[in-house]
Amino acid sequence: MSAFYREKVLAVRHWTDTLFSFRATRDSGFRFQNGQFAMIGLEVDGRPLLRAYSMASANHEEELEFFSIKVADGPLTSKLQKIREGDTILVGRKATGTLVTDNLLPGNRLLLLSTGTGLAPFASLIKDPDVYERFESIVLVHGCRQVSELAYGEELVARLRDDDLFGPLLSEKLLYYPTVTREPFRNRGRITDLITSDQLFDDLHQGPLDIETDRIMMCGSPAMLEDLKQLLETRGFAEGANHRPGHFVIEKAFVER
Ligand code: A2P
Repeated sequence: MSAFYREKVLAVRHWTDTLFSFRATRDSGFRFQNGQFAMIGLEVDGRPLLRAYSMASANHEEELEFFSIKVADGPLTSKLQKIREGDTILVGRKATGTLVTDNLLPGNRLLLLSTGTGLAPFASLIKDPDVYERFESIVLVHGCRQVSELAYGEELVARLRDDDLFGPLLSEKLLYYPTVTREPFRNRGRITDLITSDQLFDDLHQGPLDIETDRIMMCGSPAMLEDLKQLLETRGFAEGANHRPGHFVIEKAFVER
């Protein structure tokens, strides 16, 4: 048995010069938990070329969705960004990752903190009814340099708000906070600064960070993760892992150099 499923690309959408998303068929045998990632890629010169990608689709969905950067000279994304409907992608059979709710201690408020394509695992998690059962409120923060980079997340949240099943759950529990660092926007600043200054919580009319009630998942650039981890550890928050739940969990967003 091959280590990969061969899936058909169903749709590709280009959001900016550096961001695109695509949907693909899903083998009925491919199981994952919302928030996990798998190795995804292409066959190049007869060999698999793969990188870790979080599923942006939820595990109840029939199709798979991924959200990716484009790097002109990136070994995989320089090719992956050219895929079209009908092309074949490879999907590793085994999904894994730490951004799953079982890795968090029970809490009331779930903070999903992301930059760039680090939004992808949270796109999956905010489509998981179990997440809404476990937490009283969910705060989805997406930080980008430019407003145009927010589009995938904005459209996703808007679509879910219109959905028969998720609309009521979102209006009751989900707070969405996009923020931009390099041009004007209604919310501005780095996630780290927005937490340290309490600006994030003030803007959302919520209480400040509280170790008793807050649980956190983060996914983004290595520098952002390192700074956030330090910020949380200084306040006594402990990192969780598989089979060792904690106050927060971390995953690097896919980076291609
Ligand atoms: P900034 O514009 O101030 O660098 P990138 O595209 O470099 O991955 O950045 C995505 C977003 O993450 C940007 O808004 C960027 O802000 C922000 N960012 C980069 N480094 C950090 C960090 N160490 N802590 C918090 N946010 C960061």
